[in-house]
Amino acid sequence: MLPTRATEALRIDHPIVQAGMARGYTNAALVGAVSGAGGLGILGCLNRPTTEAVTEIEKIRALTDRPFGVNFVVAHIDWETYEACLAELVPIFTFFRGDPELVVGRARATGALTIYQVTTVAEAEAAVQAGVDVLVAQGVEAGGHVGPIALSAILPAVIAVAGGRPVLAAGGIVDGPSLAAALSLGADGAWMGTRFLATPESPALPAHKQAIIDAELGATVRTGIWDVIWGRTWPGVEVRGIRNAVTDRWIGRDDEVPALRDEIRARIERAKRDGDGSEIDLLAGEGSGRITSIEPAADLVREIAADAEGNLRRLGERASG
Ligand SMILES: Cc1cc2nc3c(=O)[nH]c(=O)nc-3n(C[C@H](O)[C@H](O)[C@H](O)COP(=O)(O)O)c2cc1C
Repeated sequence: MLPTRATEALRIDHPIVQAGMARGYTNAALVGAVSGAGGLGILGCLNRPTTEAVTEIEKIRALTDRPFGVNFVVAHIDWETYEACLAELVPIFTFFRGDPELVVGRARATGALTIYQVTTVAEAEAAVQAGVDVLVAQGVEAGGHVGPIALSAILPAVIAVAGGRPVLAAGGIVDGPSLAAALSLGADGAWMGTRFLATPESPALPAHKQAIIDAELGATVRTGIWDVIWGRTWPGVEVRGIRNAVTDRWIGRDDEVPALRDEIRARIERAKRDGDGSEIDLLAGEGSGRITSIEPAADLVREIAADAEGNLRRLGERASG
C-alpha cells in the first residue's frame, strides 16, 4: 500500500487516478473497473449528452460502491450535464481549463470533493482561490490538451502554492517506475490518461489503442492544428497526439484549414468508421512509447501500485546504503 494525502482525501486504496478524458475515451466499464480495483475512475463529460452521462453514472454505481468522479472542461461545459451530475450527488467533480469560480463552489456545496487540473502556477493559484480540494499538475508530456511546462518543473511549483492540498501528477506516467518518480518529486499520486486508453474497457477506437501500442518513443507531437481542425482554438493551448498522416499533412498550414474544415473532418469521420489510424486524431501522451500491450484496467491499477511500491523500497534501501 502507498498511502498518501490523496488516497486519504479521495478514500481510495492506491494513489492512481484514471484521468478525466472526453466521451470517446471513458465509460462506465472503465471507471467501474478502476474504482473497483481501489483507484479512482473518472467519467469524462466533454461531448457527452446529459441523458447518457446520467445512464453511465447509474451503470458505474451498479459496478462499484467505491468513489468515482466526473470531469468537465469548464471552457466547454454543458451546464445541463453539470446540473444533472450535481443532482446525482456524484462524489468527486474534476475540472480543467476555464474559470474555477464558475464550478468549484457549487460542486463543494453538494458535499462533493473537487479536483482541478492545472498547467501553470497562475491556474493553480486561481483554483486554490476558488477553494478546490485537490490539484493535478499536468506536464507537457501529457496526452490531449496540454500546457507548456515539463512535469518535473510544474509539479514542485504547484505543490508550493497548493497550501497543503494533495497534488497529483499528470503527463507520461504509465507504469510503476514513472509513478514512483512522481511520488519522489512530491506528488500524492498519479492522474493517468494514455495508459488507461490501452485497456479492453476503454471505448477508444481499436485503431487508437493499436497506435498507442505500436508507438515508439518520440512518436507524439504537440500541435495546435487539431483545435484548428475542430474549430475551437484556445490561445496558448496545444494538443499532444501520435504523429500520423493528418498531422504530417496539416501542421504549418493553419491558415488553409478553416476553408477546408468540413472536408477534413468528414475524412476523419470516415477513417474512424474504417478503422484507419493514419487519418484520425490519436490523442496520447509521450508515455505511449512505453506501452506495449492492452491490459485490463483493474490489473493495471494493482500492478502499477505494487511496482511503484517496489521501486520506492529499492530506492530507500539504496539511499540507506
Ligand atoms: C484522449 C484524451 C482525451 C482527453 N480528454 C480530456 C478531457 O476531456 N478533460 C480533461 O480534463 N483532460 C483530458 N485529457 C487530459 C488528461 O486529463 C490528462 O491530463 C492526460 O491524459 C495525462 O497525460 P497521459 O495521457 O500522459 O497520462 C485527455 C487526454 C487524452 C489522452
